[in-house]
Amino acid sequence: MRAIICKEYGSPDRLVFGEFPCAPLGPNEIRLRVHAAGVNFPDTLIIQGKYQLTPPMPFVPGFEVAGKVIEIGQKVVRFKIGDRLMALTSSGYGGFAEEAVIDSERAVPIPHGMDYVTSAAIYTAYGTAYHALVQRGKLKEGETLLVVGASGGVGLAAVEIGKALGGKVIAVASTDEKLQIAKDHGADAVINYARENLKTRIKELTNGAGVDVCLDPVGGDAFDVMSRSMNWNGRLLVVGFASGRIPQLPINLVLLKGYQLVGVYWGSFVTHEPVCNYENFQHMFEMHAEGKLNPVVCQTYPLEQAAFALNDLLGRRVTGKVILTVP
Ligand SMILES: NC(=O)c1ccc[n+]([C@@H]2O[C@H](COP(=O)([O-])OP(=O)(O)OC[C@H]3O[C@@H](n4cnc5c(N)ncnc54)[C@H](OP(=O)(O)O)[C@@H]3O)[C@@H](O)[C@H]2O)c1
Repeated sequence: MRAIICKEYGSPDRLVFGEFPCAPLGPNEIRLRVHAAGVNFPDTLIIQGKYQLTPPMPFVPGFEVAGKVIEIGQKVVRFKIGDRLMALTSSGYGGFAEEAVIDSERAVPIPHGMDYVTSAAIYTAYGTAYHALVQRGKLKEGETLLVVGASGGVGLAAVEIGKALGGKVIAVASTDEKLQIAKDHGADAVINYARENLKTRIKELTNGAGVDVCLDPVGGDAFDVMSRSMNWNGRLLVVGFASGRIPQLPINLVLLKGYQLVGVYWGSFVTHEPVCNYENFQHMFEMHAEGKLNPVVCQTYPLEQAAFALNDLLGRRVTGKVILTVP
């Protein structure tokens, strides 16, 4: 099969497009003919050797795929050949390819009428945002939800889901264009953290109370501010560190302000609680059918141009998702 291959750590431009052997299939695994692959922030890290997972060289990056079942392992009973699935690869890589091996337990059937590009755009971003807000953040109707990096993949999904669940959504992003997109997708208020004082604006928008739930996929300086801007009984959701800095927390802030610091790891959640993940998606598919969720794909590239997609992510140019198509 043809695939994007990482032969040495470095920038996306060092990736090559070529022939790569198909991985063998385990008893609980499925081989998908990949039609679309989501490009995610960890893909930019894994090719640089900066991710917690370091596959043996050479390897194929990418972990989020949508496609058709072409082979099933001996113990797979949930799916059959020809089914359309959105899925994570078994290994956490191997997705930027014509074929990928996925774990059957962690796959979700694509609803009738949804195309492969949308499916690849939804799985990780919406799966993460929903799990963060519902199981981890326990967002209630009428509560304030602040989303950092609100026009990114996870961020924009959180804006839409938070709004659909009845939250008062404050979107935080680095440009007015990005904030406009967040507004178009349901944000009630916006903060441009590149030119406005985040702490002051939060005080203004919440009448000094602070926010009830904060979803933070960015970390760094924004997290430092958020750790001082939570309401009593608030939930600060640690989702990621796109800024490149994993912040340190003076733990007395959690005590003094009476909020909870809650870790979110969707990939692990899918492994531990696949049924709950499946139910989350059934609810999201209903909301999608009702027009409450409208995933944004700002750009698609053919598989061989994966480097452009990864550079867009690194250059902070992506709104919503960027997707690779595999014709
Ligand atoms: N915990 C989990 O289960 C889970 C699941 C999925 C993703 N994640 C993590 O969540 C983070 C965001 O993922 P994503 O897919 O939403 O990424 P994304 O689409 O690239 O969005 C990240 C956002 O971070 C902001 N940002 C701030 N500094 C940045 C920098 N130096 N480089 C790039 N972006 C920067 C950007 O918004 P502004 O320009 O507006 O600042 C960007 O829109 C990543 O760290 C990812 O690993 C975690």
